[in-house]
Amino acid sequence: MSRYPGLFITFEGVEGCGKSTQAQALLERLRADGVPVTLSREPGGTPLGERVREILLDTGHTGMEAATELFLYLASRAEHAAKVIVPRLEAGEVVISDRFSDASVAYQGGGRGLGPATVEALNQVATKGVKPDVTFLMDLDPEEGLDRLVRGRGEHARDRIESEVLDFHRRVREVYLESSRREPARFVVIDARLSREEVEAQVTAAVDELLGERGMRTGRTP
Ligand code: TMP
Repeated sequence: MSRYPGLFITFEGVEGCGKSTQAQALLERLRADGVPVTLSREPGGTPLGERVREILLDTGHTGMEAATELFLYLASRAEHAAKVIVPRLEAGEVVISDRFSDASVAYQGGGRGLGPATVEALNQVATKGVKPDVTFLMDLDPEEGLDRLVRGRGEHARDRIESEVLDFHRRVREVYLESSRREPARFVVIDARLSREEVEAQVTAAVDELLGERGMRTGRTP
């Protein structure tokens, strides 16, 4: 259990897995129920982090060193954890983040080959040990996820990371799944091929249970 009165929820997964839609839907549901809640994202979540995001996703920055990339994600995370996540959790709010530390473990540790353990150690520095209470891993074959992106916005709209080769994205998925096996109590793995409504139902059930445990139960009748 977290050391804060609030509840920290993260969404993770490969490109096109539908996590941002689910994060938004959860925000709206909790708001409608009168639960104090913030939705944020990484990279980003603070003014500095949003500028770092632009650098990271800019397709002009081809050939960026893997270490440079990792430290930029970590820089965004350090700001986000200290300025947004921890204060809101201390105030007893629910914080939803569209990606967090697990993304660096999967993308930079797995995709870029820097090694999950190295990235985990650096995450610890960036976050001062803040961890999600629950992480929804929307699991999907990256080929299908990238297809969804192309269907949604066309081949030329991919950002720098989305443009990586399929093998990169396969490694990302594998490391996400490894993380979920290492921490089964924190991760909820959801089959992202399910309908939006089916995924939402799984997310709602898990979040309601946690809110109940924390005495933050919503006004909604089941
Ligand atoms: P998004 O697709 O969730 O907006 O995230 C932006 C991209 O950044 C996505 O391709 C995943 C990537 N990413 C990493 O490579 N490492 C990280 O630590 C984070 C947070 C995101």
